[in-house]
Amino acid sequence: MPRYAYVNGAYLPHKNAAVHIEDRGFQLADGVYEVIACIHGHLADERGHMDRLERSLAELDMPMPMDRQTMAIIMRELLRRNRTQNANVYIQVTRGAAKRDFPYPSKDLQQSVVMTTWSFNYDNQPKMEKGVKAVTVPDIRWKRRDIKTTALIAQVMAKQKAVEQDAYEAWMVDDDGFVTEGASSNAWIVTKDGTLVTRKATTDILRGVTRTALDAIRQELQIKMEERSFTPQEAYEAEEAFNSSAVALVTPIVEIDGHKIGNGKPGKVTLRLYEEYRAYVDGLRGEQIGWKA
Ligand code: PDD
Repeated sequence: MPRYAYVNGAYLPHKNAAVHIEDRGFQLADGVYEVIACIHGHLADERGHMDRLERSLAELDMPMPMDRQTMAIIMRELLRRNRTQNANVYIQVTRGAAKRDFPYPSKDLQQSVVMTTWSFNYDNQPKMEKGVKAVTVPDIRWKRRDIKTTALIAQVMAKQKAVEQDAYEAWMVDDDGFVTEGASSNAWIVTKDGTLVTRKATTDILRGVTRTALDAIRQELQIKMEERSFTPQEAYEAEEAFNSSAVALVTPIVEIDGHKIGNGKPGKVTLRLYEEYRAYVDGLRGEQIGWKA
């Protein structure tokens, strides 16, 4: 069965799908992206991801390349053509193709829009039973981490360090010694008294759409949350740790830098949040919420 990708108005066989060599996304990482989970046919937090896409674009003086309704139709059509109901949907928008030059080209330049889907089985993930390992690495990124740009080389290097140490995620640590976030996820710990702790969403981190949903869910469950910085040492001594993202959803972390977290098994609060988040995406509890910068 051929696989399709959406590229600038056309559904093309994935293996031949391409953008122009002068695309500013390719040459300058002058673009933004989103990853949305499609689970059992439901696009998780679609509105939140669209809100953030629009905001990332606006921060780089780009408009939405099409209205949300059109984007919603294309995503669903691509999933349909790829015959999948369980997938990561990837959306990338760049400023378009123009002669290589640093300043923004004319506003009339047509933006590039690419969408792909990658089938992904969100059920029966062994990482939910066993948990995963994380390692810490220095956060060497730029200062506008709130924009979901395709300039990901620092995260690529961080993830590589994790893989080399047999870990699933790299937690990045700022110059003051505090954890910012995972290379492709938000970082959370649960203290001994059951309080959730995650970094405040400033320009230092990407405000995760999953993070926003988890905040709403934990309020309903009356779980306390502190938005503050924490050190790797505090994480080593925490009761639980986990990552959140459109791909990780809520992934338990059972070891950080070789330190066992809690009893070395996925924590109770983590698993509860995971179950509740899955139910929320399946439409079994409440309406999906938006995302706010
Ligand atoms: N990454 N922080 C960073 C640096 C991220 O790259 C991501 C997501 C998140 C979590 O955001 P959300 O909950 O909205 O997925 C936080 C995606 C999944 C990726 O790059 O593949």
